[in-house]
Amino acid sequence: MISLKGLLIILSVPFKVLLLILKYPLFGGRCRKLKNRLADSIRLTICYTGLTVPVRDCTYLNLMSNRFLIKRLLGFLHKKITSKLPHYGESYDKNSLWLVKHEDRKPSDPILFYLHGGGYYFETLPSQVQSVLSIYQLVDKEKRDKLSVLFLDYKLASNGYKLPYQLAQLHQTYTSLARDGNTNIIFMGDSAGGNLAVGYLQRLKELNDSTIPYPTKSILISPWVKILPEPHQYTKGKSYYDSKEHDMISYDVFLLDSHGPHIVGDVDTTRLDISPGNHHPYSKKDWEGIPTLKDPKSDVFVITGEDEAFRDDILEWAKYALDVPLYDEVKYGDSNNKFDSSKHAYIREANSNSAGVRVFVEPWGIHDSSLFFESHLIKKLQNNPNLKLKEIDNEEFFGITRIVEFLNDTL
Ligand SMILES: *[C@@H]1O[C@H](CO)[C@@H](O)[C@H](O)[C@H]1NC(C)=O
Repeated sequence: MISLKGLLIILSVPFKVLLLILKYPLFGGRCRKLKNRLADSIRLTICYTGLTVPVRDCTYLNLMSNRFLIKRLLGFLHKKITSKLPHYGESYDKNSLWLVKHEDRKPSDPILFYLHGGGYYFETLPSQVQSVLSIYQLVDKEKRDKLSVLFLDYKLASNGYKLPYQLAQLHQTYTSLARDGNTNIIFMGDSAGGNLAVGYLQRLKELNDSTIPYPTKSILISPWVKILPEPHQYTKGKSYYDSKEHDMISYDVFLLDSHGPHIVGDVDTTRLDISPGNHHPYSKKDWEGIPTLKDPKSDVFVITGEDEAFRDDILEWAKYALDVPLYDEVKYGDSNNKFDSSKHAYIREANSNSAGVRVFVEPWGIHDSSLFFESHLIKKLQNNPNLKLKEIDNEEFFGITRIVEFLNDTL
């Protein structure tokens, strides 16, 4: 049965949306990024409120399975695109399905392995897959013809599968891919999917099994690298506090006495494969020996938002895991929505101690903007399948254009 608290939160949604609509003409949208975007502001309000629903009650909100979403709903809405994708929606194993699997692919051909976000208690939303499909469509044709895309359909904490169940599912599928000879697996994870992508690198390091190749690249979109926030983070000048008027993620939701126990269960949250940010002290040493981050043949892409609660956690992780100085050197919050490459981008070519690294902080960006609030790109691509990356506005589609550029440059 749904709890009274869960029911009240769900029933509050129409009122919150109504209030937003009434206030919109005078005050604009839900956050400064979406000031002039009413529909997206409504979506943000729904997502924000949805995340505050008690974890177990979300089992009643996850009405659509990932398979239904991908095969039926998006297969219908975006038939023009999906009907041209070889093996769209077919299973690889019981934990995963292809968005694209090319015929006659070679084991060294890249697989973009998408790990979806949703706090480990929400299924994928259409916008996330729409953005992944848009990214794929925009990759240069000659690279795209070799690029397959796999979707991990992991089980949720809202159905009683607490961490690290999902890491075990990822491991099962990942090792099958490796057994099949695949050597070029690229992780792309948003939010909780980013947590999986990062945690799994630590899992591989622990395993020390030379028969399982590391991912060759990682694309981390607002990765959830610290599961439990600490009180000192909810103070002025810190991203959890400064983003509270803007972001989808609020400080109280992920505290240990709220959602925490229903997501992580009994697992030790200071484990590096569970929550790097809760492993004290943070140490650069812990990230050495991970080829995905340190091998000159590998590449890493990270994106966060200026107005994102997780921004500090993500940049702190990047400091220790990738030697990126933004966490210590830059104060955020005053961009005025203008991109300044010295504050909002950190790009380093691969060298003998490091993979190629690209980190972006989107001006006024919020949590998971790339996959949640750039998904309308798919409509443009549907109307014009030959649209090129350079014809796409790289402010409106800040994340997607940079992810595609990263793939074009490194595939
Ligand atoms: C990893 O395995 C290799 C041999 O397979 C061994 O030489 C090395 O000491 C191991 N490393 C750790 C940290 O256990």
